[in-house]
Amino acid sequence: MMARRKPKNLWLGRWGFILAATGSAVGLGNIWKFPYMTGEYGGGAFVLVYLACILAVGVPIMMVEIGLGRRGRGSPIDAIRRVALESGRSSAWSLLGWMAMLCGFMILSFYVVVAGWSFSYLWKALTGGLAGNDVSDMVAIFEANNANPLVLGFWSTLMTLVTMLIVGKGVQKGIERSVSWMMPGMVIMLAIMIGYAMFSGGFGAGVAFLFSFEVGKLSSEGLLAALGHAFFTLSLASGAILTYGSYLPDNSSIARTTFMVAIADTLVALMAGLAIFPVIFANGMDPAAGPGLLFMSLPLAFQAMPLGMLFATIFFIMLSMAALTSAISMIEATVAWLNESKGIPRVKAAWGTGILLWLISTMAMLSFNVGADWTLAGKHFFDWLDFLTSRFMMPLGGLGMALLAGFLLRNEIFKSELGLSSVQHVLWLFMIRYVSPLGIVLVFIDSLGLMTL
Ligand code: PFF
Ligand code: NA
Repeated sequence: MMARRKPKNLWLGRWGFILAATGSAVGLGNIWKFPYMTGEYGGGAFVLVYLACILAVGVPIMMVEIGLGRRGRGSPIDAIRRVALESGRSSAWSLLGWMAMLCGFMILSFYVVVAGWSFSYLWKALTGGLAGNDVSDMVAIFEANNANPLVLGFWSTLMTLVTMLIVGKGVQKGIERSVSWMMPGMVIMLAIMIGYAMFSGGFGAGVAFLFSFEVGKLSSEGLLAALGHAFFTLSLASGAILTYGSYLPDNSSIARTTFMVAIADTLVALMAGLAIFPVIFANGMDPAAGPGLLFMSLPLAFQAMPLGMLFATIFFIMLSMAALTSAISMIEATVAWLNESKGIPRVKAAWGTGILLWLISTMAMLSFNVGADWTLAGKHFFDWLDFLTSRFMMPLGGLGMALLAGFLLRNEIFKSELGLSSVQHVLWLFMIRYVSPLGIVLVFIDSLGLMTL
């Protein structure tokens, strides 16, 4: 057995990895995408399908990523290259690391714009900027916020700055320290929001929307959405989990931590649904997805309720923190690579990366105003970043890692990294060799269909 490499950085506390990885996983995907998908695709029946996807595809691949990171002790590029070489495989497998790193960077380039909306709405909630009588007023507020590139750019720039500031401070003093109060804080705020939702008068309707078991609504479309979302929601194939895994101490159990992160991510997604939909239904509104839900319906609903702006404030603080703890994980791979592999001091690496990120994200931000006409095949730059990452790069990266771990690397590597019992190991291997690739290929075929539309 090869001696393990010494890590350059390690999580300081027992909970360091779990908090950071949960911080990465829990984000806009949980709060604005999952609840809506659940209501749309069949409530409780969809939740079961989703859980199956998380278990059969997400969890096994997350274990691979953490294992690759810890074994290779480095950024995705270096870690994958080292582990491939250790098994006598081509160093070209490091391309998988390049794609993951790029994917994290590209996601962050549009994610900061959405996080910027959250910052901006927090400010509006505090300063009385969310007043309106109906949905059309809220649409007008949202559009006004987007229309001025200086306003919108201010918020996305602020988000970029805060993200790079944290990452620049390093693994322990930046990332670990910030997640260790933001994650508990977020969960407390979410629990408060659920308490509030219970008294809104719409709790029953919200619960019914989320959990009523509508087998008839299950569809292949729902299955594909669940499969695709499994990658995004668990931050897979974007360099985030792999890089965080490279800081995991040798004696931590990868299987146990993976399950904890996956369970926490799912619980927060369900909790978000319980916080949001009752408020929406109590005010006789329709559930929607994305910006419409969080930035139009929800503020309007809050407004009509006692202490509404207080709870709107709590909600947008929570949303901003969820976005921030995800954002830092998306860019850590790049900064770690510049630092470890190119010898650039971390602070410099962070600011260099930040400038590039700022340029690209500004282009994404302009999709909402000045660049409203800059489209390619009907999609804005912002939409392209989303589409390419979630529909192609994540599945492709996941497939590559599954094939690498399932067929090409020496068996001994994952035996020793994962430390599963032999029955568990066989099960994991079966998932990673056959079940995950099959799921991913289905998503791909579907994406190719969308491409020609
Ligand atoms: N998991 C995050 C969410 O659900 O919002 C998104 C994400 C974070 C994707 C980090 C990729 C990543 F590297
Ligand atoms: Na998530």
